[in-house]
Amino acid sequence: MKGRGLQLLRNKILRSMTTYTPPAQAVLLPTTSASPLDELTKSSLSQASSILQAGGLVAFPTETVYGLGASALSSTAALSIFEAKGRPSDNPLIVHIATLDMLYDLIPGGKAGVPLLYEPLIKKFWPGPLSLIFPLDSSTSTPPTRLVSKVVTAGQPSVAIRMPSHPLALALIVESNLPLAAPSANLSSRPSPTTAEHVQSDLGEGRGLGAILDGGPCLVGVESTVVDFVSSKKDGGQDELRVLRAGGVSAEDLESCLKDAGFGAKSEEKVNGQRIKVYQRDFREEEMEKKPTTPGMKYKHYAPTNSRVVLVRHVLASTANKSNLPPSLVDLLHASVLSSASDQPRVGLMLTTETLSSLHPTSLTPFPTSSSTLSHLLTFPKPEFSPISPTIISYSLGSSAIPSEAAQRLFAGLRYFDSLPSEEDGADELGVDVIMVECVEETGVGLAVMERARKAAGGMQELEFS
Ligand code: TXA
Ligand code: MG
Repeated sequence: MKGRGLQLLRNKILRSMTTYTPPAQAVLLPTTSASPLDELTKSSLSQASSILQAGGLVAFPTETVYGLGASALSSTAALSIFEAKGRPSDNPLIVHIATLDMLYDLIPGGKAGVPLLYEPLIKKFWPGPLSLIFPLDSSTSTPPTRLVSKVVTAGQPSVAIRMPSHPLALALIVESNLPLAAPSANLSSRPSPTTAEHVQSDLGEGRGLGAILDGGPCLVGVESTVVDFVSSKKDGGQDELRVLRAGGVSAEDLESCLKDAGFGAKSEEKVNGQRIKVYQRDFREEEMEKKPTTPGMKYKHYAPTNSRVVLVRHVLASTANKSNLPPSLVDLLHASVLSSASDQPRVGLMLTTETLSSLHPTSLTPFPTSSSTLSHLLTFPKPEFSPISPTIISYSLGSSAIPSEAAQRLFAGLRYFDSLPSEEDGADELGVDVIMVECVEETGVGLAVMERARKAAGGMQELEFS
């Protein structure tokens, strides 16, 4: 459906809106991690489920990030997701399911409608952080038994589906018996939420959210990997898969799963023979980059509101060009605030533990009254060229050898620095001036981390330090 068609549908739905009236402030529903579920969690799930069945919005935890959920079968409910987030209506949503039977109900042809190449991926990675895009336009198959709203798919001839592994997400889907359309529960363009507090700060008041199911911090911390299926029917080649968005399941793990299932590239074939291609690593398409369904190409993403993000990359002195050695990190951070409007600029450093421990500050103290053990106040001698002494606060991204730690911490760190209150008396400003994020290796989930970090930095060039 084209822009005008969507607009007409949207107006029609708005006119017929009758049902759920959300509270002014979203209700925070507590849970415990007890298994089997205890009475408190059951009661929270039942309240959340009632809101969803009445057509309302509930934010819920998944293993990746918190989702802003509504019934995927109701256009009215799905529309309120777009309204709450301020999300462009041409950017489709992922539908969350709890069982394979639910999948078969949502796609043409049912069980037989699952592309062959998806079968090993579903077996290995569901439930988990993998979203698969299924074609909806098959004229030869039986139509789906439950129809996903066109508002959810933004009129695309396909639907993205994922089975999350978080027990609360699964329990909520089962309890409500609804496939849940759910984008990340942040305001559009802000970093994705990995705690209930993040959701509350973006959507807690006056955004139409009924409740937030509080399941504590998310384990993975970056969103699911989005994989598309490209049929060979048109060009007579072989079917292939495309990673449109790097995420919680790494490209390496997808590749090796396909290979184990007998779908690998033959050894003599290079990229062209691959059964799975990663967007930006193995292929790029100008036409595709204009589409809203190519994650993050058309829209601004992950940007803090008050702080500027700069990516910094550690270059080993032994590998750097000796005559042109990059500056030290301390020089770099002073230079980054030289033209700052503030007299007392603040710099947030999101660094790996290895880089942090190589810095040798003259003092390192846990950051005042912060409950976060990841954050410290650092002091360094001032470089000669700099007239100012910025306040320097570090936040650990974890070990560079364990990219899943950076994945868990990236969004939380961006939000932490972006909302850090000013210490100056009477100033009600929020956010540090500059957040410097250290680049991590782009293997495993590190690829997803760097993709998010680059978008947060607005595509600005990386700065090297030695
Ligand atoms: O981990 C996640 O995926 C989280 C949690 C809540 O499940 N959800 C999430 O949703 O990240 P969202 O809306 O922030 O990102 C969904 C991405 C978008 O980039 C969208 O363009 C793409 O998936 N997408 C959805 N349906 C699609 C379709 N039919 N074709 C192509 N891309 C699609
Ligand atoms: Mg999102």
